[in-house]
Amino acid sequence: MVQSPVSAAPEAIAAQTDVRVWVNGQIVDAEGARLPHLTHSFHYGLGAFEGIRAYEVAPGVGAVFRLDDHIRRLIASCHLVTLDKALTFSHADLTQACVATLQANRLSEGYLRPVIYLGAGAMGIGATSNPVHALVAGWKWGAYLGDEGLRRGIACCISSFQRPGHATTLTKGKLTGQYINSILAKREAVGNGYDEAILLNEQGYITEATGENVFMVKDNQLITPPLGMNILAGITRATMIEMACDRGIIVVERPFARDELYCADEVFLTGTAAEVTPVRAVDGRNIGQGQRGPMTELLQQGYFDIVRGRDSRYARWLTRFDLP
Ligand SMILES: Cc1ncc(COP(=O)(O)O)c(C=O)c1O
Repeated sequence: MVQSPVSAAPEAIAAQTDVRVWVNGQIVDAEGARLPHLTHSFHYGLGAFEGIRAYEVAPGVGAVFRLDDHIRRLIASCHLVTLDKALTFSHADLTQACVATLQANRLSEGYLRPVIYLGAGAMGIGATSNPVHALVAGWKWGAYLGDEGLRRGIACCISSFQRPGHATTLTKGKLTGQYINSILAKREAVGNGYDEAILLNEQGYITEATGENVFMVKDNQLITPPLGMNILAGITRATMIEMACDRGIIVVERPFARDELYCADEVFLTGTAAEVTPVRAVDGRNIGQGQRGPMTELLQQGYFDIVRGRDSRYARWLTRFDLP
C-alpha cells in the first residue's frame, strides 16, 4: 500500500485503490464495499460510530488506545438508539475487527472509524426491520488540529450554534446525525478565521467543542464540565482526569460560562482525534499568556507517553498488535 503523509486528509486516502475495510465480518477492498443508495442511515443519519487511535509503540508494533472503552461506548450508543437489537456482532467481534482493519492496511499507527448503521429496506423514517450493518475503516491521520496547534495552541470562538440539550437528543451517544450541528459550528468558526468552535448549552454554560471536550486551568485546579451536562463522555477526558489525579492535581467537574473561560489561566481541548490541544485564545481574548500553559504541557506530554507505550503504569489501556 502507498503510505500517505501523516497529515494527509482521509479524503485523499479514500481515493487510493488498495484500501481495505472490514464489513460485516470480512475484510474487503474499499472499492467493492460501496453502500447501496437506499441505505437508511445515509438518508436519515441514524448511525453509531467511534473514532479510535492506534500508535506505533515499537517498529512494526502498534497499540490501540483504550479499545475496550471505545467498543463499550459504541455498543452503548447503539443501545441508546436501539440499533443493538439487530446488531449481530459482539464486543469481541468489533474489537477484533478494529485490529484486523489496521493489520489489513499495514497501519501500525492510524485512526479507526467503526460505524454501525441501518441498511436498505423500508424507507419510512421509523423503519425497524432493516438490517443493521457494521463497518470499520482505518487511515493514517496526523494531528487533527495541526502540529502547530499542538505546540502553540489554537484560536477558538464561542459558536452561534448550541449543543443540543437532553430534551432534544441523546447527548451521550456518538451518533452520526448528531454531527450536523458540529459541522455547522466548525464551518462557521473556520469561515470566521478561527480553528475550532466551542458550543454553549441552552443555559449559556460551556459544553464542548465540535469533536473535543473542554478543560480550563484556574489557580492550579483543572476544571471541566460535568458528565450530567449535555456533553459526550470523552475517553480522552476520562484519561486526562485520571492522569491529573495521579499527579496530585485537583480536578473539579462543574459548569462554567464563557466569562470564566475568557479569564482562565489555561484552556485545552481533548479528543481522540485532537489528542490534547492547547487553546491560546477564545473570541480574540488571549488565554493566559496566549500560548500553551505549563499544566497543559505536562498533561499533553503525559498523554503522549501513555499512548506511545512509554509509561508502563497505564499499559492496561493499550491493545498491542503486530503487523503481518
Ligand atoms: C462531540 C465530541 N465531544 C467529545 C469528543 C471526545 O471524545 P473522545 O475523547 O472519546 O474521543 C468527541 C470525539 O469523539 C466528540 O465527537
